[in-house]
Amino acid sequence: MILTVTLNAALDRTLSVPNFQAGRNHRASEAMTLSGGKGVNIARALRNLGQPVIATGLAGGRTGTAIIEQLTAEGILNDFVRIADESRTSTAVVDPTSMQQTEINEYGPSVADAELVLLMEKLAYLAKGADIVVLAGSLPRDVPTDFYAVLAAEIGRDDLPIVVDAPGPALRGALPAEPWLVSPNVREAEEVVGNEFADDEDAAVGAEALCSLGARSALVHDERGCVARLPAADGGTERITLQARIGVRTDVVSTVGSGDAFLAGYLASTYEGDDREAALQRAVASGAASTALLGAGVVDPADVSALARQVAVEEVAAGA
Ligand SMILES: Nc1ncnc2c1ncn2[C@@H]1O[C@H](COP(=O)(O)OP(=O)(O)O)[C@@H](O)[C@H]1O
Ligand SMILES: [Mg+2]
Repeated sequence: MILTVTLNAALDRTLSVPNFQAGRNHRASEAMTLSGGKGVNIARALRNLGQPVIATGLAGGRTGTAIIEQLTAEGILNDFVRIADESRTSTAVVDPTSMQQTEINEYGPSVADAELVLLMEKLAYLAKGADIVVLAGSLPRDVPTDFYAVLAAEIGRDDLPIVVDAPGPALRGALPAEPWLVSPNVREAEEVVGNEFADDEDAAVGAEALCSLGARSALVHDERGCVARLPAADGGTERITLQARIGVRTDVVSTVGSGDAFLAGYLASTYEGDDREAALQRAVASGAASTALLGAGVVDPADVSALARQVAVEEVAAGA
């Protein structure tokens, strides 16, 4: 079973608004409300891809109740710690004419120390039955930036792969815990590494840098695919760099949560025992497939399989 952890769960409202313009009145042509937050999106995509998954994390107030009820209605197994403060609502406006998207994200709830302790206890318990744990998304305010490293230590099982998909500061704070895998988009990787990537070679150097900072594997992704720094052999310390490429889609409906679908594709494939080339193909295909559908982490598995065949994977020279 794959366990996803979302400290900043949200109720995600996605509105499709043709010709969206600030300062104007609009009518949404399509609206959708789904539970969200990165770990939740990853759980949804994993479930769509047929993998056993449980979503945990923090959920508070009426919004928290709505998050849990919606997940349950979708058939996504979940076990959240209830907190006193209100979980956030996020709103995304996608414009099908310009293909631009505007996101408005509320601040997350404040979390009491006692609530974090409850989460650690729940995590330690659920992790006993997990084969992979995914720590994903931003941290609520007041939670220290090294909290993912604290959680990894709390889980305390060397044989349990820990995955981190988080924005810059939370990702940086997690690296000393030597996560099994990190999956930043190019922008997040640049932020952690400290320089912009001008070309593929820079991205390869960046993926290597993430590994020198502690990650055992790194997938640095964007709309063209990903650069992956992975162990050359299972359990070994030597690593190789692979590049996976797909044609950039021009028929995008929404990219919200497509990086979460990307990671889910990789994990689903790895969980099923595929080799790393196949896992990278499924990752890139899953990210690309999710852009065709409204809703974070929503993917059509048939679309993923079809697109995976179009992903070219090749080994490239190490960056440095
Ligand atoms: N036009 C596109 N064609 C193919 N894949 C895309 C396209 N746009 C986005 N993607 C996929 O979505 C990912 C976006 O990831 P990310 O920025 O991490 O989003 P989020 O964190 O919201 O899930 C890209 O790295 C890629 O895998
Ligand atoms: Mg992402």
